[in-house]
Formats: sequence, C-alpha cells, structure tokens
Amino acid sequence: MPTMGYLHNGHISLIEESKKRADITIVSIFVNPTQFAPTEDFKAYPRDIERDLRLLEQAGTDYLFYPSAVDIYPNNFQTYVDVTEIAKIIEGEFRPTHFKGVTTIVSILFNCVKPDLAFFGQKDAQQTSVIKRMIEDLKYEIEVVICPIIREADGLALSSRNVYLNPEEREKALILNESLKQAEDIILSGERNTVTIIKKINNNFIKEKSVHLNYIRIVNADTFKEADKLETGKDYYCLVAAKVGSTRLIDNRLIHIK
Ligand code: PAJ
Repeated sequence: MPTMGYLHNGHISLIEESKKRADITIVSIFVNPTQFAPTEDFKAYPRDIERDLRLLEQAGTDYLFYPSAVDIYPNNFQTYVDVTEIAKIIEGEFRPTHFKGVTTIVSILFNCVKPDLAFFGQKDAQQTSVIKRMIEDLKYEIEVVICPIIREADGLALSSRNVYLNPEEREKALILNESLKQAEDIILSGERNTVTIIKKINNNFIKEKSVHLNYIRIVNADTFKEADKLETGKDYYCLVAAKVGSTRLIDNRLIHIK
C-alpha cells in the first residue's frame, strides 16, 4: 500500500486488510512532490520515519519501500501519467495538477513493487476511482481493495493533516462528517433530489464562518458523475472538501439507495 507516511490508524487498517488477504505486505512511504501544487504543503507535510517504522513493525508489515526523491524523480525525469477526465473534476477543479502527480507516483510504485493487490482508503474516494481508471487503461494486472474510512471517536476522519488543526479548529472540523451524516439522514427520509440535499447542507457552512467550503457533491460511486436524481439500487458518494483555518480537509460517505 502506497502512503506518504506519518501513519495513523487509517493507514494501519489498510495493512491489517492486506495481512488478511495477501501473502506479503509491502508499505511504501514517499511524500510525493508532484502531487502538491507550489502553493500547497509539501515542505510542511508531517514526517516522522522513526515513529512510522515502529508502527509498521507493530502492525506486522513485511517490507517498507522508502525511496529517496532522486530515486523516483532523477534529474532528467519527464514522463507523467495523466487520467484525462475523472482526474479533472471535483477535487481536480480545486487541485488541477494533483491527480497527475498521484497517478504518476502510483504507477512508478506499482512498477517497482509489482503487487497483485493494492490497498487504498475510501477516505480519498476520487483517488481510488482515478487509480482504478489508470489500472484498467494501462492494463496493470492489479486488484484494488478499497478499505473503509477510519474515524476518531467523535467522527473526524483520520488524516495526517489533522495535526495542523489547533483545538478550536479541531472542533470546527467536525462539521464535515456531521454534514455528511445529515445528508444521509435527508436521503433516508426519502429525498432524492440532489440539489435540495446539497442546498440544505450548504446552509451549515454558510452559518459556520470559520470554515470555508470548497464543495459538496453527490456522485455516482461507479462513474463519479454528478447525479441530479438518486436512483433506487445505486450507490453514491456524498463528497465534501473544506478549509478549516488554513487546513484543507476532505471527507465522504458512501450511500446506498434502497
Ligand atoms: P496518504 O494520505 O498517506 O494515504 C495513504 C492511504 O491511506 C490512501 O489510500 C488513503 O486513502 C488511506 N487513508 C488515509 N486516511 C484514511 C482513513 N482515515 N481511513 C482509511 N484509509 C485512509 O493518499 C496518499 O497518501 C497519496 O496520495 C498516495 C496514494 C500515497 C500517492 O502519493
């Protein structure tokens, strides 16, 4: 499983799933510069390899792949993997170069490690869809396993970036998961029009001045296409991204329409 380190129980849950399903569990740690825009937090991204090594060992990881930046991107590096459609929408509108960096590094990691299975978290739902697209298009023989979102007891999705939040921001950050829960409740009560659902959720963010909403979207879980009307029997992701102070957080909920 590819990671950028500063491991938490979300990462560990992927390792546990791999230990159940695979003979050998290999984790990579590489803070990938090409998936950060120049204005983003590549330099500040938290790193603690000693702590990560302890956690990997405790979790029973067989191998760590820990390449250096020049191993991955030597001076004359000039080849990128770009998924042209689903990488450009939603998260891609706010981070236009992000997924190109992700698919490039994941492709390189696949070529170095040659896995049969690759484990990703639903936390980054669009990332999993983009990677699945890349796997199909480039004909990698790799099965993607998507693991559920691990949360703190109060509902905040675990993220390496949560360390940026001060106590007040940490409290405000709960609005993401709470809004997603609210969206699910509205859907369970029978609402099928996504514009109506999104409008109601949007109101939470209008009231909460210290949180800046980037987007709230409802997409078909298979195609990642935005939906107007929710259809019985189908799965949808409700996706949210917001800045709490200067920290950008994303979260989502997978909702099955009965
Ligand atoms: P990173 O943010 O370190 O996440 C590594 C993996 O852990 C991803 O598949 C992510 O979805 C999963 N993950 C993160 N938080 C989680 C949570 N709360 N519950 C469950 N899984 C969680 O995602 C990346 O790194 C990078 O983009 C990468 C794929 C490594 C490419 O550089």
